[in-house]
Amino acid sequence: MRKIDIHPEAVERIKKYTIHDQQLGFGKYVAPLMIEAVYDQGQWQRFDLVPYGPIQLDPCTKVLHYGQEIFEGMKAFRQPDGTISLFRPEQNARRFNQSARRMSMPEIPVDQFLQACDVICSYCKNIVPKRLGESLYLRPFMIASEVGLGIKPSKQFIFIIVASPSGAYFSGDSVKVYIERDDIRAAQGGIGFAKTGGNYGASLQSYTKTIQAGCDQTMWLDSTHTYIEEMSGMNFMCLIDGELHTPALTDTILDGITRKSILELARHEKIKVKEDKISIDDLLKKIEEGRCTEAFVCGTASVICPISSFLDKDGRTHYLKDGQGKVSMELREKLISIQAGRSPGPEGWLHPVPVIEF
Ligand code: COI
Repeated sequence: MRKIDIHPEAVERIKKYTIHDQQLGFGKYVAPLMIEAVYDQGQWQRFDLVPYGPIQLDPCTKVLHYGQEIFEGMKAFRQPDGTISLFRPEQNARRFNQSARRMSMPEIPVDQFLQACDVICSYCKNIVPKRLGESLYLRPFMIASEVGLGIKPSKQFIFIIVASPSGAYFSGDSVKVYIERDDIRAAQGGIGFAKTGGNYGASLQSYTKTIQAGCDQTMWLDSTHTYIEEMSGMNFMCLIDGELHTPALTDTILDGITRKSILELARHEKIKVKEDKISIDDLLKKIEEGRCTEAFVCGTASVICPISSFLDKDGRTHYLKDGQGKVSMELREKLISIQAGRSPGPEGWLHPVPVIEF
């Protein structure tokens, strides 16, 4: 494993950094330091903690043309004793490498990935927010940095982790969902399961439609326009006849770590869980019949947010019976309380960040 070199200027910058805003929002603030690693000649050459700042890229750098890029989203939480813990970071390391394989990019050994996360969190210890539900959001990402316009996998890469003290992703208490009946996000054999920028870029045309229609999130259907897959940056769940349903994972759906954690918590609470195909028309029918009472979106950034309504292409709005999400909010409280170390969770969910004096 490569040792991470700490640049004194990065340490000086973080010592002086403070945030006074009570409304952190999501991704509005970013710590004045970052992890930067370089891959070349078939291996990771160096890992550094450096001041946050622009990266200079030649206009012919491959990532700018062919989108060879992957990223992760993960969170570190302030614990009751003041220490910091990351939530299931090894799951992010695993998924990062899964995305890397699909995008012909080099993997990062799990220990190395975790060490890089530990180091940036350790140096950010004074800016990890303290209020329940807030966190230090980490955004690790990798880009193809080789210069050249030939369409072939890059041989050089840059890996970076930036850190953002963050609060709620959505400003409201619930979200209105726009059902995308025309465009699709992913198809079998494609890159839907990979956390790569292209999936998010391709969702933006629908984002504009969604916002213009007065909604907050786009719901994606599969390539047959029949079954629910996920939202633009989060997974989908709903309660039907008191059972928790979510689309079963396929290679077109992102394997969400919050999704996985909620399913484990729900099973522990003796809520029946079904991972299955959910047809959108069937879901709307069950909402009208009062059998689907709640639905919610879930993800690292969004945690759990109840869905109040679905807007369909025919202009009809379908309102959930419980748009404030009683069960959804109970699951949310459980999850954020485990993350904040205020109630015990399953073994290994919290990864304590080593304390570094500086
Ligand atoms: C996350 O939840 O961490 C994500 O990466 C989704 C994001 C694009 C907001």
